[in-house]
Amino acid sequence: MVKVTYIEHNGRVHDVDVPHGTTVMEGARDHGIPGIEADCGGACSCATCHALVEQSWIAKLPAKQPMEQDMLDFAYQTDPARSRLTCQIRVNETLDGLVLRLPERQA
Ligand code: FES
Repeated sequence: MVKVTYIEHNGRVHDVDVPHGTTVMEGARDHGIPGIEADCGGACSCATCHALVEQSWIAKLPAKQPMEQDMLDFAYQTDPARSRLTCQIRVNETLDGLVLRLPERQA
């Protein structure tokens, strides 16, 4: 398990244990975290799993693939450096302690 912290737009904090090999989106969905909708179920085709990664974690995440980058154009209030689609981040031990902020709303 890897600890991931999801912070809602209203500041409410959720610390969740996410299993290795699953995605950050699945960790939120499976724990009922408000703010991640994931309408496409993780197929990188909806942009409703958008979250903003805390600054200190940006460089530790795998690089965005072109499909994720393209889909982020449809997300609400993105930040070029911090925005990610959480279905595209697979959890492993290097991400233990990851912190993300959820947007005010999804696309
Ligand atoms: Fe649809 Fe991530 S769940 S793009």
